[in-house]
Amino acid sequence: MERIAVVGCGLMGSGIAEVAARSGFEVIVVESTNAAVDLGRERVSKSLRKSLDAGKLSPEDFENASQRLHFSTELSALVGADLVIEAISEQADGKFELFRQLDELFGDAPVVLASNTSSIPIARIAEVTAHPERVIGLHFFNPVPTMKLVEVIAGQRTSKETVLKAHELAAALNKTAVTAPDQAGFIVNALLIPYLLAAIRLFESGNASSQDIDTAMVLGCGHPMGPLRLTDLIGLDTTLAIAEVLFAASGEAHLTPPPLLVTMVAEGRLGRKTGEGFFSYPQS
Ligand SMILES: NC(=O)c1ccc[n+]([C@@H]2O[C@H](COP(=O)([O-])OP(=O)(O)OC[C@H]3O[C@@H](n4cnc5c(N)ncnc54)[C@H](O)[C@@H]3O)[C@@H](O)[C@H]2O)c1
Repeated sequence: MERIAVVGCGLMGSGIAEVAARSGFEVIVVESTNAAVDLGRERVSKSLRKSLDAGKLSPEDFENASQRLHFSTELSALVGADLVIEAISEQADGKFELFRQLDELFGDAPVVLASNTSSIPIARIAEVTAHPERVIGLHFFNPVPTMKLVEVIAGQRTSKETVLKAHELAAALNKTAVTAPDQAGFIVNALLIPYLLAAIRLFESGNASSQDIDTAMVLGCGHPMGPLRLTDLIGLDTTLAIAEVLFAASGEAHLTPPPLLVTMVAEGRLGRKTGEGFFSYPQS
């Protein structure tokens, strides 16, 4: 594999594109509008520059990684890629539509079509394509340059060859892969999201402050970050979308999205990416 494509250059797509370019792949990134391309490009170059300034990336590697990144608003720019990673918003219909288009675009080419979805079963995404054997889940974690884990999720009809290529890519990106079951939330979000929702419900009850909830989990359980700050990092919109998928799959009451989360998303308080969530983040 030499050419990796990334569709969607938000929090996750920008991180995946950066890590792939730093690992020596030619990377083509597709976003929905020119404005989104500009934002995505800025996100990647800011992160690369931060590594350069911190001495974690040599000037030569910075230059090479920057040169390997290409941006477009046209899906046709992806033709010739060996593996595509979809990292668009966590909305099932949008992902189904994109995979239909990708499937058509690549025809019979031996490409791997991977989704970075946090919760939608891979078999459901694969089902909309004529080549379900080449569809797989490759679930990275935020922030991608620092988080070591990738969940590899094979759908019912994913081929062994596709699984092998997904593991090869994870290794080439210096990530540790785990094999996760193709069920809503896979491993990490099936366990993490109920915890985050419980923390939001506790805050919503008015019985504990956001700071105390987070401090309790950091100092009492040794977590690197409290649940409300972690929700801000993930994005409240993404957390809500994952909760909705988990609730739809199980119907369990503790997975119902808390009203406060729904309200904050409706008000555009999405966490770090908008500067306001359970905590405030000055935007630089
Ligand atoms: N945020 C997290 O912590 C996290 C962690 C792991 C996985 N994920 C998953 O990664 C995916 C992306 O999440 P994110 O946090 O980066 O979201 P985000 O909102 O930061 O970015 C999504 C990007 O997709 C773009 N987009 C939407 N539709 C598009 C289309 N049809 N074509 C091209 N671009 C399109 C948007 O313009 C936006 O820039 C989701 O499936 C999410 O569940 C998120």
